[in-house]
Amino acid sequence: MSETQKRNGEEVVDETLANKKVKVDATTTAQQTEVKDQQCLLTTIEKLDLVKKELDVKKWESNVTIQDLITSSLDKNDRDAFFVADIGVILKQWIKWKKNLPGVTPYYAVKCNPTVGILKVLNALGSSYDCASRTEIETVLNLGVDPTRIIYANPCKQISALKFARAHNVKLMTFDNVSELEKIEKFFPEAELVLRIAPDDSKSLMRFGTKFGVHIEDCFDLLEMAKEMNLKVVGVSFHVGSGCFDSIAYDSALTMVKSVFDMAAKLDMKLNLVDVGGGFSGSNTELFETFTKVIREKTAELFDKDVRIIAEPGRYFAASSHTLAVTVISKRIIKQEDNRQHPRRTSNNMRQYNYYLADGVYGSFNNVQFDHAKPTPILLKPSNKQPTPCTLFGPTCDSIDVIARDTQIPELKIGDWLYFPEMGAYTTASASSFNGFCPPPVYYYCSEVDESAL
Ligand SMILES: Cc1ncc(COP(=O)(O)O)c(C=O)c1O
Repeated sequence: MSETQKRNGEEVVDETLANKKVKVDATTTAQQTEVKDQQCLLTTIEKLDLVKKELDVKKWESNVTIQDLITSSLDKNDRDAFFVADIGVILKQWIKWKKNLPGVTPYYAVKCNPTVGILKVLNALGSSYDCASRTEIETVLNLGVDPTRIIYANPCKQISALKFARAHNVKLMTFDNVSELEKIEKFFPEAELVLRIAPDDSKSLMRFGTKFGVHIEDCFDLLEMAKEMNLKVVGVSFHVGSGCFDSIAYDSALTMVKSVFDMAAKLDMKLNLVDVGGGFSGSNTELFETFTKVIREKTAELFDKDVRIIAEPGRYFAASSHTLAVTVISKRIIKQEDNRQHPRRTSNNMRQYNYYLADGVYGSFNNVQFDHAKPTPILLKPSNKQPTPCTLFGPTCDSIDVIARDTQIPELKIGDWLYFPEMGAYTTASASSFNGFCPPPVYYYCSEVDESAL
């Protein structure tokens, strides 16, 4: 309804309507504040219960196996592939994080798995977020997350995204080069900057050093330049590489961070934040405990108590939370002649098979291409047949759509189901709909967890 009406041919503002609108706006704001206050008052468990309702999370009883659970989903849903996501895994990882890194705030790396279920569960737990782009920032803000709980951790940012971050007060962000400083000076001069250094990433599966991070010998100049531009550098970050397998990586990276703190001090800049990045395993607790011990001890040794320590775990929270169930849609017997034509296939007297599955490397198995993954197939119904050599292909018409080459499993028939554990990290995130095969849906469950430990 318009607030401007004609009276004796003149345009006048209808005071009553305008007043009403002011009142409605005030009420809405008051209601929003009230809702926000109520949400603050809710305990973590209450917030989690709300999220479970929203996601339609089913309880996963301890006497129910993953096979039973997948089988029951087959009966209910006419699907060729789907994920079973256990939010209980995320809760257990949260508890383990709090126990091992009590002083380190996790900023979940959204890029690892931006599935709304993971984001919402972590929000209920009070996690912060590492965002790589405007869309990720927007997604996280839309969950009601305060902008101070976001780090824009992409050292090379689009100008449009910088403007968006400024408009939404997402101040904390990483940088590692001069042109980034120039952009930030122009488009977001009040930003709080974290200098990303390049640590030794040779102890990781996915190395980032060729793309990101400033070398230690160039740090002083960059800090000096930031100072000349009147920009506020608040801390230092690093990423030892994803899939790290040696704690020495954190040890030496933290020593480098300390030397950058000392350089900053020489420039009268007081840094107060250390960001230890990601790299933590999602399934290997022993490795996680070794890494976290190093981080605890080294940060206590090198930095003052008022220095805030944060991290950007992705794989740690997401990897074990998802299991992918997928059906065999087609099958081909490989003849000896084919083997001669294609010498890459092993030749022996056994029959060999090509199986075509309902999801492939253009979908959830893109981790084979992008994340060094070697997915392990498990038969939904155990078979006592002898394992035979086979190759598992995805469903598209592209020949590089190979999930596992020259593997061994008991003979399968069309309509059989396989499942693949540990499929939560870097899977759904880059899945495409190439050839019209859409990424599989996610069904949420929650295994038993001692919620009082959250
Ligand atoms: C800047 C940054 N932070 C955090 C992560 C998450 O790493 P991870 O999954 O090893 O924990 C990545 C992964 O690519 C990253 O690029």
